[in-house]
Amino acid sequence: MKYVFDVAFLPSEKLKEHEVRIVVDLLRASTQITTFFDCGGSVLLPVKELKEAADLRDKLSGDWKVMGERGGVKPEDFDFGNSPVELMQSGAPDNAIITTSNGTNAILSAVSGCERVVVGCARNAESVCWDAICSGKNIGIICAGQNGEFSLEDSVCAGMMIEKLLALAPSNGADEMELTDGGMSALALWHSMGPCISEVCSQSAHGKTLSELGFDNDIFFCGEIDESSTVPLLTEKYGMYAIIGR
Ligand code: MLT
Repeated sequence: MKYVFDVAFLPSEKLKEHEVRIVVDLLRASTQITTFFDCGGSVLLPVKELKEAADLRDKLSGDWKVMGERGGVKPEDFDFGNSPVELMQSGAPDNAIITTSNGTNAILSAVSGCERVVVGCARNAESVCWDAICSGKNIGIICAGQNGEFSLEDSVCAGMMIEKLLALAPSNGADEMELTDGGMSALALWHSMGPCISEVCSQSAHGKTLSELGFDNDIFFCGEIDESSTVPLLTEKYGMYAIIGR
């Protein structure tokens, strides 16, 4: 059985065909989403715009919180920001709507032409890779990037996931594995810059911005590897896209 592992460094690339996509926005949306479920959250609705989030909160019945960031900070009137460390401290709401500058857009665009989209970060890397291996043979890791530009931390994390996919696939019957150019490039980046993801985050442009904003704890937290077994899965609920934890 043959597996193909691919990495797209930006969601705006012409994406190859994949049976499964793992969306990575290490700093911090995919870590925040994973942490939401680790803290007991039930449903997250990802949306693109701030206004869309607030309107949806008003429209939905029940207790929905709004969560996310612009420029790294909590928007006015939002209930939660995008800091996984703060979320760990406050506890997660049961249901929330989330919008972030890059991560939620990447998740929503990854769904086009792909049956299964999951959200991955360093903390749930092994779990999300195993889930992907069990769900399809043609697996793409989609890096969210930063405002349309290459993101070092997403790409290094994608390389680490490629290494995990290569290690795990034989346990599910792989006797042949192929890396695309994107897959090989990410793996080379991981080999040259890993294994300390927090250190990579500290050196990256977005990591420096988060540090200036006082989020050094998030950088350390987002860099921790295999601390979570949660696999956030994109599905449909209430006639829209929703993320649930598995
Ligand atoms: C994003 O979606 O761009 C990020 O998650 C921003 C952040 O660090 O909060």
